[in-house]
Amino acid sequence: MHNKIELIKKLKAEKNAVILAHCYQNMEIDEVADFVGDSLYLSQQAAKTDADIIIFAGVFFMAQTAKILNPNKKILLPRTESGCLMADMVDYRQLMEFKSQHPNIPTVCYINSTAEVKSECDICCTSSNAIKIVASLNAPEILFLPDTYLGKWVEKQLGNVKVTTYPGYCPTHLRIKPEDIIEARKKYPEAEVLAHPECHQSVADLADYVGSTTGIMKHAANSNKKQFIIATEKGVVDRLTRDYKDKEFILIKDNIICPNMKWHTLDDIYNSLKNEQYEITVDEQIAQKALKCIDRMLEVSK
Ligand code: 13P
Ligand code: SF4
Repeated sequence: MHNKIELIKKLKAEKNAVILAHCYQNMEIDEVADFVGDSLYLSQQAAKTDADIIIFAGVFFMAQTAKILNPNKKILLPRTESGCLMADMVDYRQLMEFKSQHPNIPTVCYINSTAEVKSECDICCTSSNAIKIVASLNAPEILFLPDTYLGKWVEKQLGNVKVTTYPGYCPTHLRIKPEDIIEARKKYPEAEVLAHPECHQSVADLADYVGSTTGIMKHAANSNKKQFIIATEKGVVDRLTRDYKDKEFILIKDNIICPNMKWHTLDDIYNSLKNEQYEITVDEQIAQKALKCIDRMLEVSK
């Protein structure tokens, strides 16, 4: 493995490549990644890199977003199987139908969506800036897709915007049930419960803190508590356990793993760099329209 890490680093330098990795990746990827973080952080890094090649150790929509931000760079996804089940829940036709059922209402899409969907939305958001993005529209009502739970959580936090949501969801986060939180609290009464807003509302309502991947990690780092129950993907627990040895992090239940995020291995990253595979392309017209939606988000998030 050590040898693979050195080979990847050498190739990266030779090809002026950068590796962006989401916090849900297998931990070995961090050894070669230039930037590790949540989807907002990674899209911000993608927007400002001067590398010629971006290897995206994440899921398809993330690599596609990087391509839209960098039409002249080579964007590579090491394993084409890495899709996002939530992003796949709404396609262009379904979006247009949803919009036609609620005409003339600003439409916000979660970054977990395809380029085609982004091309017909006013602005996109991630879980870490969703409240700020929706508030920035100054509208009494918005449409939100695909994640119904993130949308409803934003509605509750803001209190003055009606959020009409599309019925999409993350199958990984929906595995967490309110009973799991109640059980975990009984077992670890001193622990703080931190949850992602992709969780069902009944779960978010029981948490001490709800936030994005980075929000959860920052909250845990700054908290005086020593024990935490983590209601999101296992990668977050793995990194917190590695980085904060004086604290204990408990994954809410065993199977909170996004299978699509776990495809990439160091071998795949090496092959991707060496053979420059698998290149992401986006139709130019769609990309131009989707770029407006992404740029608007980056502008508001500054
Ligand atoms: P964040 O990285 O924005 O927390 O989102 C989590 C996620 O599900 C990525 O697909
Ligand atoms: Fe998509 Fe859920 Fe996996 Fe995130 S955790 S990439 S939303 S399926």
